[in-house]
Amino acid sequence: MKLKKLKKKVALEVLKFIPKNIIIGVGTGSTISYFIDFLKTIRNKIIGAVSSSIKTTENLKKNGIKIFELNKINNLPLYIDSADEINRNMDMIKGGGAALTKEKIIASAAKKFICIIDETKEVKILGKFPLPVEVLPMSYKYVKKKLEKLGGIVKKRNKIITENNNYILDISNLYINNPFDLENKINNIPGVISVGIFSQRKPDVLLVSKINKVKVIFRKNEK
Ligand code: A5P
Repeated sequence: MKLKKLKKKVALEVLKFIPKNIIIGVGTGSTISYFIDFLKTIRNKIIGAVSSSIKTTENLKKNGIKIFELNKINNLPLYIDSADEINRNMDMIKGGGAALTKEKIIASAAKKFICIIDETKEVKILGKFPLPVEVLPMSYKYVKKKLEKLGGIVKKRNKIITENNNYILDISNLYINNPFDLENKINNIPGVISVGIFSQRKPDVLLVSKINKVKVIFRKNEK
């Protein structure tokens, strides 16, 4: 299957970007599952990993990779994760797998963030992928009304309780012209735990899997 091949290719390629003897932050999702399969092959060269979800933790452990808590380490040199959508400025939507809050914390805590995607994730304008917002359960109706005022159709994700015991609201039909502003606006609504726009913490390096190659893009000021 074409998409699977693209995801595997970029998941393998990113190994070249991992220095020896470090702890790596690891994201969540199908691309990252392939990455963990490959990470296993160099597990003796790294110290271990900080995980962004229960699924990732189980997967890392199964592959013999030691887990560290973010609170127990002094610094995190690298975070590797995928995305649901990314635009040319490297603003992203994440959270399709409902792990956005931990993903955002680890991405922000890490010195370097490498994002690995297949080319179907590249968009001109963010918003075709429904934007996930994690909310405190007691506030979800209030937050839903506030989000509806920003445009788009807001739906509570069916039967989903996040690992932090919260709900997810997905906003579809959005046309996100200014991701930075929208991230701030949504973050400012009381009851919002986090929003799946990653505009304040963008990747430093982006690897895009295309049919014939993996394209490497460094964000400005990044080498
Ligand atoms: C998880 O909450 C998401 O942010 C994922 O990183 C994102 O959905 C990418 O997932 P896939 O690799 O499965 O496309």
